[in-house]
Amino acid sequence: MSNNPQAKIITVFNEKGGSGKTTTTCQLAGTLGIRGYDVLVADLDPQESSAKWLAQRGGVNFKATSWTGHRYGENLNAQLETQSTKHEIIVLDCAPSVEQPATWQALLVSDLVIIPTKLNPPDIAALHAAKLLVKKAIEMSGRKIPARVVPVAARMHMTDDRKAVGDLLADTAFPVLTQRGDRKNREVVSLGDRKAYTRSMLIGATAHSLRGSEDSVREIEEMVDAILNILGLPDTAAATEGQS
Ligand SMILES: Nc1ncnc2c1ncn2[C@@H]1O[C@H](COP(=O)(O)OP(=O)(O)OP(=O)(O)O)[C@@H](O)[C@H]1O
Ligand SMILES: [Mg+2]
Repeated sequence: MSNNPQAKIITVFNEKGGSGKTTTTCQLAGTLGIRGYDVLVADLDPQESSAKWLAQRGGVNFKATSWTGHRYGENLNAQLETQSTKHEIIVLDCAPSVEQPATWQALLVSDLVIIPTKLNPPDIAALHAAKLLVKKAIEMSGRKIPARVVPVAARMHMTDDRKAVGDLLADTAFPVLTQRGDRKNREVVSLGDRKAYTRSMLIGATAHSLRGSEDSVREIEEMVDAILNILGLPDTAAATEGQS
């Protein structure tokens, strides 16, 4: 259990089905766990895809706690408050539907919203609706909730995907996640189209557990660095203890 009174809440949201929410959630949460953070993965999808991912191989390969938050529906936030005293970071894997009351609840209490998207035309078209809902949640919550788009299954060697990322970069209200560092030379953070992301699900782990998955690991680590930077958290939880 952490000493932090309030966990940081990262909501992984996109109402488009199959956009990479569960993949992003699990690679992100597991990597934060490897970095020493006490992480809760809150599965807000009745399909329980992330809960099943964490439970593979008896759960021994995944360094985070699993919680099926979708069961609480519109009472999610009361339950989240309790969970938030027990963990340092909560990653919420949303269902592909805004009809789920838990999705709206999650957006309102987020410290960061991550919107994974594939780069094909139907997914890019659907992104607009997802951004509008996040905008509405930010307005209703009265809080400045940062939101970042993360391209997933991206084929950056393909002209179409590079063009799609170029268009995403033009949206300053909902920026693409970029590496921290020199503002001018920031690189987009994306998850490539890689088998390691799917294969790691089969063993209930992140890509770190697979041999020959260095490129995948580098991408995830960059994503985690960028996200921790936005949240104002150190690269590793050990650094937190060192500072206190
Ligand atoms: N970076 C990636 N590289 C290769 N395949 C990917 C990647 N990200 C996601 N996929 C694949 O795309 C499919 C959908 O991914 P995922 O389940 O993460 O999406 P989702 O948004 O959670 O879906 P749902 O809306 O059903 O909850 C899966 O088959 C997954 O393995
Ligand atoms: Mg999912």
